[in-house]
Amino acid sequence: MKLTRLIAIGFLMMIAQAVHADEGMWLPQLLSKLNEDRMKSLGMKISAADIYSINKGSLKDAVVSFGGFCTADVISSKGLLLTNHHCGFDAIQNHSSIEKNYIRDGFWAKDYGQEIPNSGLFVTFIVRIDDVSAAALKGVTGLMNERERQSLIDKNLLAVRASVKKEEGQDVFTRGFFEGNQYYLFVTETFRDIRLVGAPPSSIGNFGKDTDNWVWPRHTGDFSMFRIYASKNNTAANYSPENVPYTPKRSLNISLDGVSKGDFTMVFGFPGRTSEYLHSAAVEQIRTVNDPAKIAIRDKALNIIDGFMRKDEQIKIQYASKYASIQNAYKKWQGEVLGLTRTDAVGKKKAYENEFQKRVTADAAMNAKYGTLLNDLAKQYAVFEPFGLARDYYTEIVSKIELLGIASQLNALVSTYEKNGEKGYEERLKSIQPNLLGMMGEYSATVDKKLFESLMQVYATAQPANYVSPLLTNWLAAAGNNYEALTQQIFADGTLYDEAALAQLMKQPPAEAVKQIKTFKAVQLIANMQDTYQEQVQGPSADIQQTLAALQRTYMQAQLEVMKEKKFYPDANSTMRVAYGKVDGYRARDAVQYNYQTHLDGVMQKYIPGDYEFDVPEKLRELYAKKDYGVYGENGTMPVCFIATNHTTGGNSGSPALDAYGNLIGLNFDRAWEGTMSDIYYDASICRNIMVDIRYVLFIVDKFADAGRLVKEMNLVHPKKKK
Ligand code: ARG
Ligand code: GLU
Repeated sequence: MKLTRLIAIGFLMMIAQAVHADEGMWLPQLLSKLNEDRMKSLGMKISAADIYSINKGSLKDAVVSFGGFCTADVISSKGLLLTNHHCGFDAIQNHSSIEKNYIRDGFWAKDYGQEIPNSGLFVTFIVRIDDVSAAALKGVTGLMNERERQSLIDKNLLAVRASVKKEEGQDVFTRGFFEGNQYYLFVTETFRDIRLVGAPPSSIGNFGKDTDNWVWPRHTGDFSMFRIYASKNNTAANYSPENVPYTPKRSLNISLDGVSKGDFTMVFGFPGRTSEYLHSAAVEQIRTVNDPAKIAIRDKALNIIDGFMRKDEQIKIQYASKYASIQNAYKKWQGEVLGLTRTDAVGKKKAYENEFQKRVTADAAMNAKYGTLLNDLAKQYAVFEPFGLARDYYTEIVSKIELLGIASQLNALVSTYEKNGEKGYEERLKSIQPNLLGMMGEYSATVDKKLFESLMQVYATAQPANYVSPLLTNWLAAAGNNYEALTQQIFADGTLYDEAALAQLMKQPPAEAVKQIKTFKAVQLIANMQDTYQEQVQGPSADIQQTLAALQRTYMQAQLEVMKEKKFYPDANSTMRVAYGKVDGYRARDAVQYNYQTHLDGVMQKYIPGDYEFDVPEKLRELYAKKDYGVYGENGTMPVCFIATNHTTGGNSGSPALDAYGNLIGLNFDRAWEGTMSDIYYDASICRNIMVDIRYVLFIVDKFADAGRLVKEMNLVHPKKKK
């Protein structure tokens, strides 16, 4: 009796702690209702309305979605933007050549005239966010199946969007939250003339590369600068030489006073995707089945690519960006498995589920609605497991073999021709051609053959025979089960990976091109792999996925109803969010305690002359030797990065880190290794986001790059020194 009471008290304390932990990616328009008190108790000195308001200017007016994949911050009244080096990397790479190697040497525009336009790049401001749940769910009943439900909601949302009053240049979109239990509408404004202003060399902007990626302590100056250009009337406009620097509604003040342990921080941005409310069975699958499978495939791919990059300078340049992107998730998943395991996330979820079940069982009405929910979920996840694994095998393998990607695009061209005739063919060709030909500059058949040989063996042997393309099985048998021989046959005709031959093929009249495309073995193979996947995996699992989606939505709704003392935030979905917490180090493992801040001394300790990852530019070494830090240093040292408890994820790159007054103190760019499982399970004791100190950014701009003209645009403040 006593023991159970103790356990009960223990559990209540756990829940109470959970409420007080700094977990969460909150909706900015709900901060006043849900978070303001807590934020103030952590030290915030401004109000929720200073962060988000639709009636007056607020901080949200200085935070933009950058290209749809990162976040950027407006930091001057001339539309200057700050984001990460890795967010601006594509733009930096596009303007680089052997003669003007901005990746290696950095780039700094000396005046507006030198700022470089980037076709396709855009930034989006959030004008307003409205709750449209009632209208979206109008007429939806529990008797509908998933498809009926979704089509009614789609219809409702179409009407909602059509009825919105918006000004010229504004757009509207709607999004589901809490697994489709709530819906919000976003009015946005998108600017499409975004010019590159500056970037440090990679030896600063990507210092430590893959070795340091996802790891604390970190010493990377991961930033780059862009500028929004607008029409002469200050409205959004496509690129034009006539455009002028945009005058924003709001820009961030920049604090020169730095951070101390325990300081309040918040991170404002566009986190991409999280899954915080999964059933324990789903988490266990990610930990033991899906992540390990994806890691194993990428491990093979990375080993192969790395082997060639080390031997061949040309391949090293060609594959740098591909390698980094394959490596980024590969490394993160390993941290995720480690973190889920060490924190016993599955056990914690189970304890939570037990409490949930107890409450549901105790209430007859709840029990009628939710009594079997957890069981049903566990059962469906078990049924889905082999399909989920097959999906991971298929997508991971096919996406690593570029020949299959090319073949798949051409195969789609054939399908379009057969369905929509010449006109459909021409349209599709126009949209894929630049991409297909463009990728040839970064393609090496030598690398791709090895990838094919190794990964097709995984595809054919690591999964049940019915998931494997019968055509491949036949060809393999004919080749005496020799993967190398099969690879030679598939790659024998080089047309698909020779830029000139491919261009020639695309010049043929549609009927002729289609006839030729069908003869390529790679095209026949991918077509058969796709069909097999559709017949054996996608088709049979479609209903299971519908059932799972419905159960997850119900479980989300049930948690909101049953776990009343808990505050819920919706999973990330690339919409604007605020995370808050405090500057703090962490205990990484037994006997290892990390500080919250790194310094330039640490850059020099990591320095390896001429190294691919850890070289340091001469000018930076000189500044370090002279301790020439200007107003940006602190007690004779130069702070570089710091960490805090803000709950962030991919997409939060480039997000501003703000102090208690809403001043910019840092730029978010990564998370610490031990806590990368926070997309699934957040643990305040080890989950840390990594930011580059804004003073390091300004030091590099001013002292290293001599681009003081940019600092002059900014509004620098001293909130702590109160001068
Ligand atoms: N891990 C960070 C993110 O998820 C940084 C990635 C870029 N840096 C790198 N070394 N690959 O995007
Ligand atoms: N580097 C990530 C990004 O590009 C942010 C790090 C994270 O996943 O938290 O968004």
